[in-house]
Amino acid sequence: MIAADDFRLGLYVHWPFCQKRCPYCDFNVHEVGLEDATDHHRWATALVRELQHFAPLAQGRRLTSIFFGGGTPSLMQPETVAAVIEAAQAEIGFQNDIEITLEANPTSSDADRFTGFRDAGVNRLSLGIQSLRDKALLALGRQHSVEEALAALTLARAAFDNISFDLMYARPRQHFDDWQVELAEALALHPNHISLYQLTIEPNTIFDQLTRKGMIQPKDEDETADFYLATRQQLAAAGYAGYEVSNHAREPHFESQHNRLYWAYQDYIGIGPGAHGRLTSNGQKIATRQHRAPSVWLDHVESVAGHATVTRDVLSGEDRLAEALPFGLRLTEGMPLDHYHRLANAPLNAKALAVLEDEGLLTTSDGVLKVTDQGRPVIDALARYLQS
Ligand SMILES: C[S@@+](CC[C@H](N)C(=O)[O-])C[C@H]1O[C@@H](n2cnc3c(N)ncnc32)[C@H](O)[C@@H]1O
Repeated sequence: MIAADDFRLGLYVHWPFCQKRCPYCDFNVHEVGLEDATDHHRWATALVRELQHFAPLAQGRRLTSIFFGGGTPSLMQPETVAAVIEAAQAEIGFQNDIEITLEANPTSSDADRFTGFRDAGVNRLSLGIQSLRDKALLALGRQHSVEEALAALTLARAAFDNISFDLMYARPRQHFDDWQVELAEALALHPNHISLYQLTIEPNTIFDQLTRKGMIQPKDEDETADFYLATRQQLAAAGYAGYEVSNHAREPHFESQHNRLYWAYQDYIGIGPGAHGRLTSNGQKIATRQHRAPSVWLDHVESVAGHATVTRDVLSGEDRLAEALPFGLRLTEGMPLDHYHRLANAPLNAKALAVLEDEGLLTTSDGVLKVTDQGRPVIDALARYLQS
């Protein structure tokens, strides 16, 4: 049985709109173009309504983090962000040190917007810079230049103390030496936190089609692994601990609390189109998913049920372990073996653990399961093997 009071509680809010979909992106995103005609008041009301639906499931717990993701949440009006934050505080309540993050795109970044988000209660901004090379931004289908990205960072710094930015690397045709220079330029900006994602070619994206036609050549596994190891070393040398596979903080208090909650398999409410949630109720872990299509989501929330939940599944011990293992292995500090034991209602497969330990892919000292540097690039395979 999972004890409810073992769990921190987060809130994820999905804003499904972007001015333009990026050709590598497979998130639940809908294009609105430059003339964004979204009815913001209607969306604010519907998001608050769906939040009210979920609030009783908090069962007395207060929120430790909120994350506005997307899509491009910086296209939200600050009033919408404020309405959701106010409702979350009124309906669920906040822990004192709550972290409230909003993802921003340099194309929808201006001083008024940023101060508006800050005044609404946002205290952490995650900026999608993606590259410090104009050519790469063009190839990634981004709508901003390096200059615009840096200008957005300056504006963000005027409004927020806690800022992270995202870069994508191991891009087709990217030279290793140039990436090292680009990364050094990024670190010279002294971010508190930096997320570095290897470009992945996701099924049914434009990049997937271009790859099939031979028009782009993604890096192979060996090259990607070389990029990964060198990147981690360069960051460590600059004093950025990689506390997770792709995330690095200058000091521990800049680590993302919301993402930590996912990796530690804690609870979160998910609202907005396509949002997922994981909530513990009566000792069971419930997985929720909301309607993906914005118009259907709105219609369900407004006219049908006050929420747009399409699936609500009780997860078995096996399901919980399948979700928690790859997440927990991502954390550099590892997770107690007991965490998995409680989730699965059974100890982990001792034989499989011994094999992987012998191969130098993970360690289990002091009751904590951790991947080694060799194991880190193959976490998903390790998780599968541990459950075989
Ligand atoms: C959900 S996205 C939203 C960010 C925001 N809309 C923007 O464009 O700046 C969050 C991050 O995931 C990363 N990402 C998205 N698709 C990816 C892919 N196919 N491969 C690697 N990273 C990806 C990007 O770095 C992106 O900033």
